[in-house]
Amino acid sequence: MASFADKVAVVTGGASGIGRALGEELARRGARVVLADINEVLAEQAAQAIRAAGGQASSAAVDVTDASAVQQMVDRTIDSHGAIDYMFNNAGIATVGEVLDLDLSDWERIIAVNLRGVVHGVQAVYPLMATRGSGHIINTASVAGLVGTPALVPYCTTKHAVVGLSRALRAEARRHGVRVSAACPGFVDTPIANNATVINYDRDAINRTIPFHYSAAQCARDVLRGVEQNRAEIVVTRHGRAMARLQRFVPRLMEELLAYQARRFESLRIKVANGGRSDVKGFHRNARAD
Ligand SMILES: NC(=O)c1ccc[n+]([C@@H]2O[C@H](COP(=O)([O-])OP(=O)(O)OC[C@H]3O[C@@H](n4cnc5c(N)ncnc54)[C@H](O)[C@@H]3O)[C@@H](O)[C@H]2O)c1
Repeated sequence: MASFADKVAVVTGGASGIGRALGEELARRGARVVLADINEVLAEQAAQAIRAAGGQASSAAVDVTDASAVQQMVDRTIDSHGAIDYMFNNAGIATVGEVLDLDLSDWERIIAVNLRGVVHGVQAVYPLMATRGSGHIINTASVAGLVGTPALVPYCTTKHAVVGLSRALRAEARRHGVRVSAACPGFVDTPIANNATVINYDRDAINRTIPFHYSAAQCARDVLRGVEQNRAEIVVTRHGRAMARLQRFVPRLMEELLAYQARRFESLRIKVANGGRSDVKGFHRNARAD
């Protein structure tokens, strides 16, 4: 079983939520952690908190949509720490809205962060890990990467792609001594819902439909257990595991349940005249293409 003591772990999206909790738990287990995030201030605060608790952590400012910035962050980490043993490609954003209410910029932004961000992380570390003959890449997907969830179609698209990338790379990487896993959490209590871009829905009404009871700290412990066991897919939360099992074993029933959920969401949709948009956006609006 893998040990994290003295290992070097990079966590993208490490300033908040699941990424921050992963960083804290890894540091508690003796890893040297780099919290890489677009939000430099929050990432440094998180690293400081880890250091104050006796762990080893630093922060790095990086926008995962920028391939060369990700490569530079990886190169700097290798220079200062000697190697990267664990790469958590975890940074992600959410867009909530029916496809009828979206425009292409909504798709482009989420694909850039959730999919290309993971690709950039993989391309930056995998060749180094393969040359070294060791390393573990953990890509944060979601249960929405296993189940087609209405009102989250672009999010679902990127997370299914991350699951596919992880499964296929895992097969290739094994002969190079490199491990690849996809983390697939169900609902976890983090700022993601408040940070999400919400289009033509009442954010509070949507949030009330989501069972956010699972803590990021518990999620991080579950993910690390799956990493230790070298699981291909690490499905987290009871709700998440139930959804994944229904999808796998009774897909026709799941189709009906998801169609019911889509009708429920329809009742929360804000109708805007003339095909307009009533956007309610989180702090990522500044990074949006429009
Ligand atoms: N919270 C959930 O219910 C849940 C469920 C399944 C999967 N996930 C996934 O877990 C991951 C972490 O989400 P979270 O819930 O902790 O959300 P969060 O909003 O708390 O954290 C996301 C972090 O990613 C960072 N980030 C966003 N865009 C970035 C960019 N371009 N470059 C670098 N960093 C960027 C943010 O600054 C933030 O610190 C995401 O990939 C998300 O899709 C979350």
